[in-house]
Amino acid sequence: MRHLIEPEDFTLEEIEELVDTGLKIYENPRDYQKICDGKILASLFFEPSTRTKFSFDSAMMRMGGNVIGFADADTSSTKKGESLADTIRVMGYYADVIVMRHPKEGAPKLASQYSSIPIINGGDGGHQHPTQTLTDLITIKRFKGTISGHTVAFCGDLKYGRTVHSLIRTMARFGTKHFYLVSPEELRLPDALKRQLVDKYGVELKEVVYLEEVIENIDILYMTRIQKERFFNEADYLKLKNSFKVTREKIKTAKPDMIIMHPLPRVNEIAYDVDDDQRAVYFEQSEMGVYVRMALIAKLLEVGPYARG
Ligand code: NCD
Repeated sequence: MRHLIEPEDFTLEEIEELVDTGLKIYENPRDYQKICDGKILASLFFEPSTRTKFSFDSAMMRMGGNVIGFADADTSSTKKGESLADTIRVMGYYADVIVMRHPKEGAPKLASQYSSIPIINGGDGGHQHPTQTLTDLITIKRFKGTISGHTVAFCGDLKYGRTVHSLIRTMARFGTKHFYLVSPEELRLPDALKRQLVDKYGVELKEVVYLEEVIENIDILYMTRIQKERFFNEADYLKLKNSFKVTREKIKTAKPDMIIMHPLPRVNEIAYDVDDDQRAVYFEQSEMGVYVRMALIAKLLEVGPYARG
């Protein structure tokens, strides 16, 4: 049995295969509409979500499967004091695969130790978000043709943004070498991660404060929201919340085939009039999340294109 707790749980070949399978499903969704017949996804969200939760639900339903679960842990026995381990043990009798999101880093890993069915991490605190990484990679492949070899700028909250932590490491594994890290000083990428990227994967990281310094050089702009819920101090948040914003003016000199990505939700870091620019692909990115999650569920359940022998 396999779990997906962090992107390293899958080899590069497996990740690229998921992306390619997701693209095939996107082209011909009808071919896959019954492959999860009789299967159940448990979606356990201990933290708010729109895209991750509903794209998983939609993915399962588009393959003929069913979904149970909660979007607010206060409606579950967690509220009565039940441990995560007990909840997970029992869900193994009710479902075939679990996707869970939790505010505590490491909670999905812990859950996987008690689970009799595959666990998918739908985001754990400021730590990892492997299915967003799959979503990001399928989007990059759809719009840029290849997963690696692009010059990428990550912009915003690089300290607490779990989507960044999962994606940058995976891009480095795939051989991408040039990254710009655009953020206020207080929200820089954690040192341990920077060291790993440089020592293990030999990437080149350039830290800058303003997007204007790099906009002309990049192929992919990955925007992020300031992770308000992970700030301990409201004053720090208020000080930083407007510290960067993409506007039409700022992308004037960008390459015509650059793409602007964002895992969403957007708060105010991309002006609404950027949405009409052909380089803005963040809504298509949310769309692609469904197809790559269909591929992932099929892989973990060993059905459809992943059926054994
Ligand atoms: C992200 C998350 O939850 O980490 N959202 C998502 O899953 N699409 C990004 C965010 O909340 O800022």
